[in-house]
Amino acid sequence: MRHFLDIHTTDAGELRGIIDGARHMKTAREGRPRGAADDEQPLAGRMVALIFEKPSTRTRTSFDVGVRQMGGETMVLSGADMQLGHGETIADTARVMSRYVDLIMIRTFDESVLQEMAEYADVPVINGLTDRTHPCQIMADVMTYEEHRGPIKGKKVVWAGDGNNVCSSFLHAAGQFGFDMTFTGPAQLDPEEEFVGLARKAGSTITIERDAAKAVEGADLVVTDTWVSMHDSQSSKERRHNMLRPYQVNAELMKHAKDDALFMHCLPAHREEEVTSPVMDGPHSVVFDEAENRLHAQKAIMRWCLGV
Ligand code: CP
Ligand code: NVA
Repeated sequence: MRHFLDIHTTDAGELRGIIDGARHMKTAREGRPRGAADDEQPLAGRMVALIFEKPSTRTRTSFDVGVRQMGGETMVLSGADMQLGHGETIADTARVMSRYVDLIMIRTFDESVLQEMAEYADVPVINGLTDRTHPCQIMADVMTYEEHRGPIKGKKVVWAGDGNNVCSSFLHAAGQFGFDMTFTGPAQLDPEEEFVGLARKAGSTITIERDAAKAVEGADLVVTDTWVSMHDSQSSKERRHNMLRPYQVNAELMKHAKDDALFMHCLPAHREEEVTSPVMDGPHSVVFDEAENRLHAQKAIMRWCLGV
């Protein structure tokens, strides 16, 4: 059974194959209406459950559209409306869902929910974001970087802001795809040591630099994300904003990066907080290509999971 739970737990060669597959499927659809079916219909006769315990625009829409383009069907389920949200165990939910559907994508809070789902499901499970990681996003991001600038191997990626779930998956990708990463943010919000260690063990240079301008020097790619994630308490908002303000990605900061550096954000963005509009809408930004590539990358992930 091939679950797609995280980037560091998936073989590097398999990850590369998924990116190649995504690129191939994207090219094959060029110029078609969004709703048009792919020539190949590898998900024909398959049902995919998309479970959301947190809000979503991109993940929800891109998975749903991706399944339909490949000839499959979806059901979008809100965790709160399921018995899952009312005391039924994850294991029992996984066993039951496996009798109805061919694939489960879940967005949840604690990663133990994802792991238990994968352990007890008889069908592949995909991580659609947990408090700790967001692997589908970073597969799309690697694809997007390479589409614009060629191989990401050996490049310098700078993460500015909160060392959160998206940052964690970027660190996993650094190890697997062979790029270097510099984190710039307040010490209280450093990325997880375990993940920094994993990337270093895999041969990546991972640097922590508190001075944002120094960190961005020579960057090939600058990335940021919201200062308050869905799992963070709203009461921490003011404190987090105060800590993170020096790490805002603005035009001044981007001047320190290479001239042809790219800017990425998984979205949703909070304009004029973690990133300013001139950067979001400026020449370095590829944020909407990233969003589009969620669709293509996840289609390739689903095919890989199902072996179709
Ligand atoms: N980037 C991302 O996962 O967006 P959604 O929360 O809208 O799914
Ligand atoms: N770090 C953000 C990512 C949203 C896609 C969150 O978890 O809310």
